[in-house]
Amino acid sequence: MRAEADANPFAAHDPFRLRGMNSGDDQDLLRHHGDVDAERGLIDFAVNVRLDRPPNWLRHRLAAALDRLGRYPSAADDHAARAVAAARHGRAASEVLLLAGAAEGFALLPSLRPSLAALVHPSFTEPELALRTAGVEVVRVPLDPADGYRLDADAVPEQADLVVLGNPTNPTSVLHPAAEIRRLVRPGRVVVVDEAFSDTVPGEPESLAGCPEPGLLVLRSLTKMWGLPGLRAGYALGDPGLLRRLARNRPHWPINALVLEAVIACCEPAALAESEQAAAEFETNRAALVAELDGIPGLRVAMPARAPFLLLRVDGGAEVREALRQHGIAVRRGDTFPGLGPDHLRVAVRDPAQNALLAKAFHDILGRG
Ligand SMILES: Cc1ncc(COP(=O)(O)O)c(C=O)c1O
Repeated sequence: MRAEADANPFAAHDPFRLRGMNSGDDQDLLRHHGDVDAERGLIDFAVNVRLDRPPNWLRHRLAAALDRLGRYPSAADDHAARAVAAARHGRAASEVLLLAGAAEGFALLPSLRPSLAALVHPSFTEPELALRTAGVEVVRVPLDPADGYRLDADAVPEQADLVVLGNPTNPTSVLHPAAEIRRLVRPGRVVVVDEAFSDTVPGEPESLAGCPEPGLLVLRSLTKMWGLPGLRAGYALGDPGLLRRLARNRPHWPINALVLEAVIACCEPAALAESEQAAAEFETNRAALVAELDGIPGLRVAMPARAPFLLLRVDGGAEVREALRQHGIAVRRGDTFPGLGPDHLRVAVRDPAQNALLAKAFHDILGRG
């Protein structure tokens, strides 16, 4: 398959086609995440995690699970957690693979041995990093800002046997229609949908987590909703054969007892009700923040936004980011995302009081229009 890709004349001419890591800089940019921007002491609008620690009920569940660290997690333990996650999405336990965060799902993608991976950008950069580091040839599919970064399934090269995109997308906040994503599915192709933020959208209208279509692989994360970046918990949904291929190079006992407990706890009905409530609050707070930012000179918000963060474009982005830092506020730089530049910034949607501080800082820096 690889020889065919090399012989393809498309490879020689397409500026977006890449193999391997060509420079340390490239790698450093793709590896940059909001946690680096969120310096200690600043109000954090750089990292898109809802809570600064898990809620008390979840901390108690995790604390109780500490007793289970005295033995190896068993196949029955793994099955029990998969069964609860599967039930949450109307799937079978055999269609769930537990992961050490969605990030592990990206790291496992080279195990599928793709010959050409299409990465829809701008988007979270870990999938590209994992694939290129493993020597997989990738093609970037840039979405058009003039078209609101809307997914056009026809823009993805037919030769791609792996396609990766996020929904809703980090950093653009765009929610792609499930029907457009399903247009990407083909025999012989795996379509990976990173749904790390899907539970932040009320009702998850465009989620494909419950869709048993062969070749569709959905990655989910507990990180964002539940304040668990330090735990590393998530799961993949897909057909059992695909999940087996994905997992073939994993070590034994890849998922620890605390993650197993977190998956069960966060997929139970009470947690789902709490997460739906939080998603509704995100919508209200995001609409209010957009209204507050509207009209600030030189600042544009990419719309429509559906995730708990906003992509901004602001003249003199690097200087504005530094000025925000002087105001005690950390935002995520945008220029490390393929397709964006120094004038792009990403800001998390926080509670009304914090959002007001962000809007005030922008007003102070850029003027009131
Ligand atoms: C879009 C997106 N997908 C996946 C991840 C990684 O999620 P996890 O913490 O589950 O590995 C992140 C983390 O920043 C993200 O922004």
